[in-house]
Amino acid sequence: MVAAETAISDIDGREGVLSYVGYDIHDLAPNATFEETCYLLHNLELPNEQQLEEIKEQLGREREPNDFVMELMPQLSQNTAPMSMLRTACSASSARDPDGWDTSEGANYRKAMRLIAVFPTLVAYYDRLRKGHPLVRSDASLSLAANFLYMLKGDKADDEEARIFDICLTLHADHTMNASTFAARVCAATLSDIHSAVTAGIAALKGPLHGGANEQVMRMIKEIKEPSKARDYIINRLRNKEKVMGFGHRVYKTEDPRATHLRRMAKELAEKSGDGNNYEISQEIEKAVMDEKGIYPNVDFYAASVYGYLKIPTDLFTPVFACSRVSGWTAHVREQYADNRLIRPDHAYVGPERRSWKPLSQR
Ligand code: COA
Repeated sequence: MVAAETAISDIDGREGVLSYVGYDIHDLAPNATFEETCYLLHNLELPNEQQLEEIKEQLGREREPNDFVMELMPQLSQNTAPMSMLRTACSASSARDPDGWDTSEGANYRKAMRLIAVFPTLVAYYDRLRKGHPLVRSDASLSLAANFLYMLKGDKADDEEARIFDICLTLHADHTMNASTFAARVCAATLSDIHSAVTAGIAALKGPLHGGANEQVMRMIKEIKEPSKARDYIINRLRNKEKVMGFGHRVYKTEDPRATHLRRMAKELAEKSGDGNNYEISQEIEKAVMDEKGIYPNVDFYAASVYGYLKIPTDLFTPVFACSRVSGWTAHVREQYADNRLIRPDHAYVGPERRSWKPLSQR
């Protein structure tokens, strides 16, 4: 059943093809920056030089959270899990947005850019606050990807790591009518505001069957500890009818094209770090799941190793996913507003036949 018409992205699950506005992800991953990807998703064309400079400037300028959110951050860092922080901070960001409750096309574009720009800062500040580390202010001269790693860790990432993270952001940016994007569009279709719609997207992404899978993958790798133990672990898990996180997909019936890039980058980082253990465990898991169930890894599987090698704390993997997917959510929300119709799915009733009211004394 078609839930919405979209020009933003498309998937061919049988062939394993993902495209953004007609561009194959295999073309975008090695060539596009995340800033170019954001422009593409929102404007349905690649930017020329001037347009790229403009969006880079905009995404560089809007990185600091507003005062209201900054007042909340110490509390959030102590009392909430990372995705709950992001959900709350996103919602709170509407309070002092410079465009207020203006819902014009121009205001919604600016709000979208502000959300894309501020998400990485929220995640980095959250981590530093909870650890009692001093905040690292954003550096507008760095790309969104390089700046996030800088604000999170306090040191500038080398070019290779910054580029790998940039590619991760592009790979996660959009994925048609996935659960969180659908949730965002359902909310937008009531003509609720863009911050509310993105907040709904975050709430849906949080679940372990969607964005939360990447964190579970790293926990599994840590539990397995060494490559030789991977196969038995998987066999046991499957015997107990437990799912292996990071595998399977509702749409792809072959390799998820994003996994191809993430596998390669995980290998590169493993070699660079001189510690191939996580990568080797991942490979053994992949072989065992394929042999036992014939199921392919999805985007979350090798993303976990990549983020692990980039020294991103495990419980920030899903918020990092959101830092990328906010570009897709906001593009979809704007597309929904542009040609809106309330989304109201049909249902299949499975309850009792119609019956008569029973007074309390007879129940
Ligand atoms: N591990 C083990 N078995 C899996 C599996 C996994 N990760 N994913 C699917 N399967 C099996 C199911 O058990 C089922 O087998 P059966 O027919 O013998 O009962 C079959 O494959 C179909 O699975 P189903 O749950 O109907 O697929 P779905 O399209 O409803 O679910 C997911 C898709 C993504 C929810 C599911 O694959 C999953 O839970 N994966 C793990 C979580 C994850 O990585 N999520 C991120 C998605 S990007």
